[in-house]
Amino acid sequence: MIMKKRRVLAAVMLGMLLITGCGPSKEQPVKNIKIGISVYDQYDTFVGQMMTAFNAYATQKQEETGITINVEIYNASGSQSTQNEQVESMIEEGCNVICINLVDRTDPTTIIDTAEKNNVPVIFFNRELVEEDLGRWDKLYYVGAEAFESGIMEGELAAEAFHEQEELDKNRDGIFQYIVLEGEVGHQDSIVRTEYSVNTMIQKGVSVEKLGYAIANWNRAQAQTKMNQMLEQYGSQIELVLANNDDMALGAIDALKAQNIPQGDWPAVVGIDGTDVGLEAVRNGEMIGTVYNDKEGQAAAMLELAYTLSTDGAVSSIDKLNGNTIRLPYIKISAKEAEAFTPPGAEGY
Ligand code: BGC
Repeated sequence: MIMKKRRVLAAVMLGMLLITGCGPSKEQPVKNIKIGISVYDQYDTFVGQMMTAFNAYATQKQEETGITINVEIYNASGSQSTQNEQVESMIEEGCNVICINLVDRTDPTTIIDTAEKNNVPVIFFNRELVEEDLGRWDKLYYVGAEAFESGIMEGELAAEAFHEQEELDKNRDGIFQYIVLEGEVGHQDSIVRTEYSVNTMIQKGVSVEKLGYAIANWNRAQAQTKMNQMLEQYGSQIELVLANNDDMALGAIDALKAQNIPQGDWPAVVGIDGTDVGLEAVRNGEMIGTVYNDKEGQAAAMLELAYTLSTDGAVSSIDKLNGNTIRLPYIKISAKEAEAFTPPGAEGY
């Protein structure tokens, strides 16, 4: 659904009319709005599912309000300079608000300057810019989650499994030997999730030993390759795979399957996100648990904020907005909870 072209292509045309000009007009009621979105990589499972949810909420909002909502989604394909150019295009095309999933979260300057010059508000999401950058203009917002929460929950899932299932301690030495599959270097969720999950296991009374780690950039195929290498190196010593997200957890499982290792001999595998495929793997017993990263809640919050900024601008009516930030809570999902789990959806929006 996400288009590759730099110039605007209508990925989702929810209405028939195109608008001109930016920002709401005080004199005339707004009849249509245009929201431009740029994602760092359209093939990212979590971000892709969040965009699907966003489109669904936009359709719903349009039906509720009678205001035409045009949503255009661009793929930055991992290039910050492409994303900067996409922002120029969105502004030329008259977007009322721009939503940015930064490629490089340390490099939002060009986007902020362009948006400020044209007075178009920006909602950053999922890839968090530093506080100092977010404070550079009063029309900058962030929608996401608190990274450390997911790390704590992942650590709790691993600790609970270790205490409850003695067969997970394969060599019966009382120590959980683990490896880590990490997301991108420099991403707030990679650094923080790893640190908090390991510390939480220790706090929950688990003795741990790190055998190794590998960076797999959130990506299932890369994780499979890295897992193959670590299986070669550590073999059955690995008792736990701590993955920074579900896609990498699934990549580890792909490797275990490809090497024909019987499921009874697998290490425990735990992830974060609760994507459709991740939840399925918890339900069928391949993963011991996951942590739900509320893509629906984040999408709904972003839509509500984008809609408000494009119409009456009364953002103070958005109760989840704290300063210029909205953070949705994570939810811990153990194997026992996975069957009955349904995504919380857009409660309150
Ligand atoms: C998600 C990952 C995703 C990444 C992209 C994280 O919050 O958990 O699955 O790949 O964001 O920025």
